[in-house]
Amino acid sequence: MKSADIDVRNVTLRYGGKQPVLALDRLSLDVRPNEFAVIVGPSGCGKSSLLYLIAGLEDRTSGSIQVGGQEVTSPGADRGMVFQSYTLFPWLTVAQNVAYGPKRRGVDDPATVARYLHEVGLEAFADHYPAQLSGGMKQRVAIARALANDPAVLLMDEPFGALDSQTRHQMQRLLLRVWDHSKKTVLFVTHDIEEAILLADRVFVMSGRPGQIRRVLDVGFDRPRHEDLVLDPAFIALKREIMGLLRQDEVPAD
Ligand SMILES: Nc1ncnc2c1ncn2[C@@H]1O[C@H](COP(=O)(O)OP(=O)(O)OP(=O)(O)O)[C@@H](O)[C@H]1O
Ligand SMILES: [Mg+2]
Repeated sequence: MKSADIDVRNVTLRYGGKQPVLALDRLSLDVRPNEFAVIVGPSGCGKSSLLYLIAGLEDRTSGSIQVGGQEVTSPGADRGMVFQSYTLFPWLTVAQNVAYGPKRRGVDDPATVARYLHEVGLEAFADHYPAQLSGGMKQRVAIARALANDPAVLLMDEPFGALDSQTRHQMQRLLLRVWDHSKKTVLFVTHDIEEAILLADRVFVMSGRPGQIRRVLDVGFDRPRHEDLVLDPAFIALKREIMGLLRQDEVPAD
């Protein structure tokens, strides 16, 4: 599937129940086809909610969400998801997990499954079960599984949040390679500002709840980006700017 743009217009999300929560308030954002967009924002500002809305797993209260010009009303194969908590089927092997989506759509193609397992470096683990894999390997399966549906956009909610820093760096490199090969549009949520800058074409900084886009920052560094970039004064200046934007929501300690 060709990569698509994501157009979020004036989206409000109010969770009902005994204590209603206004999670998002007239939030707008635009992600370009094949762009790597990263969202950062304070805890509870509605980042996951926004991804659920775009995925069609949650209904917005008002506003419009379009992916590739199509209004989002339900989940669809055009949107792949990778979450922090591993959402693999524990009773299926690695290869069966990756084949699951295509099979459901009537596509049974072992060559494609093998290609995506190769892309994430897990050919040798095709017959293993998730319980036999490390956290990083599970996330690689999750990425391969999302890609196997050939989505137009990849929605990633803190996919590397539970990994140690070395594995996290490995996964960042792997994801950038996959992104480069697959030309998907990526919308990626993280708490890690360095990760945001290392990965993004643009960083969207959200305000505290109710979530809105506070600032959009262009990240102009050449690719491929080396990890040493974090020591570059321009990198540090951008990091400082994002930290300042996030700090505006902190409650003073005294
Ligand atoms: N299903 C739900 N029902 C009611 N309220 C919810 C529901 N899901 C989330 N919320 C509330 O909506 C707000 C936004 O939650 P959300 O999980 O989207 O934030 P987040 O930015 O992803 O946070 P974090 O950085 O901690 O992951 C929070 O106040 C949360 O308590
Ligand atoms: Mg979240």
